[in-house]
Amino acid sequence: MLSDSPSRTAMLVAAYRARASEAPEPICHDPFARALAGDEGFAFAREVDASAPNMELWIAVRTAYLDALVTAESETLRQVVILGAGFDSRAKRLARPGVRFFEVDAPASLAERQRRLALLPDYGDHAAAVSCDFEREDFVERLASVGFRPDEPALIVWEGVSYYLSEPAVRATLARVAQALHPETVIVFDHVGKRFIAGVTSSEEDAATKSHLGAAGEPMIWGIDHALPLLFELGYRDVRQDTFDEACLRFTGTYDRERKFRFQHLVRARVARGVPERGR
Ligand SMILES: C[S@@+](CC[C@H](N)C(=O)[O-])C[C@H]1O[C@@H](n2cnc3c(N)ncnc32)[C@H](O)[C@@H]1O
Repeated sequence: MLSDSPSRTAMLVAAYRARASEAPEPICHDPFARALAGDEGFAFAREVDASAPNMELWIAVRTAYLDALVTAESETLRQVVILGAGFDSRAKRLARPGVRFFEVDAPASLAERQRRLALLPDYGDHAAAVSCDFEREDFVERLASVGFRPDEPALIVWEGVSYYLSEPAVRATLARVAQALHPETVIVFDHVGKRFIAGVTSSEEDAATKSHLGAAGEPMIWGIDHALPLLFELGYRDVRQDTFDEACLRFTGTYDRERKFRFQHLVRARVARGVPERGR
C-alpha cells in the first residue's frame, strides 16, 4: 500500500548520488542531487552505510550506466519517460533539442519532488510530470494526458522501483510497455534476485540492507533471477541483462571478488528485434 509520505528511499538514492558525484574520482555526475536529497536523505545514508558499504558504488554505477544509455538512445528515441522519478535530475542534465522528458511518480513523492525542484534557482522546467500509483493506475493513460505519444518510440527508464512493487504491478507495467507503446520503445530497469527478496543470502551485509529499507517503510518485495523468460512471455524480443559486476567493470574498470551487492542486475529490453550492435 502506497504511503502518503514522499519516498525516503528516493531521498537515500539522491544522497548516495550526491556523495558519489563529489568523490575525488567520480563515476557519475549529478550536481543537483545534494539539494534534492535534503538532510533526511544524508541522515538515512549514514544509517545504511554500516550494513551496505557498496550502496554508494552501486548507485554511482547505476547512474552512470543509465545516463550513458539515455544519452545514446535519445539520439533516435525522442521521448524519455522516467517511471518512479524520485529525485532524479536527468531531464535537466541530459536535455537535448527535440527530446521530450516525462516524469511519473506516486502523488506524495511527485509533490515533494516538485517542491524541492522549485527551490533550485538554476533548474527550470524540463519535463511534463504526472502522478500515478503503479499498483492501481495506468501510467500510459496518465502520460498521454500530458502529451506523451504512445504511437511514437520512447525510452522508458524504470530505475530503483521494480522491487518495491507487487508481482502483478511489475507484470502490468512491463506488459503495458510491450503492448501499448511503439514496438521500438526501449525499457531499462534494475531488479534484484529472488534469494535476496527471500532473505536467503550468503552475505550478512546484503540481508541487513534489505531489512534497513523495509524498516524505512518501503519493503522490497519482488525479485527475479533472470528477467529474460518473463520479458519473452510478455512480448519482448531484444533483451540484455548486466550484472552489478559487469556494470562495475565497465564504469570503474575493476572487479572485486569480495564485493557485496551482487543481488543487483540491470536489464534493457524492447519488443522489436534489434539489428545486432557490435562492440557497444
Ligand atoms: C528508490 S526510489 C528511486 C527513485 C529514482 N528512480 C532514483 O533512482 O533516484 C523509488 C521510487 O519509486 C516510487 N514508487 C514506489 N512505489 C510506487 C508506486 N506504487 N507507484 C508509483 N511510484 C512508486 C517512489 O515514490 C520512489 O520515487
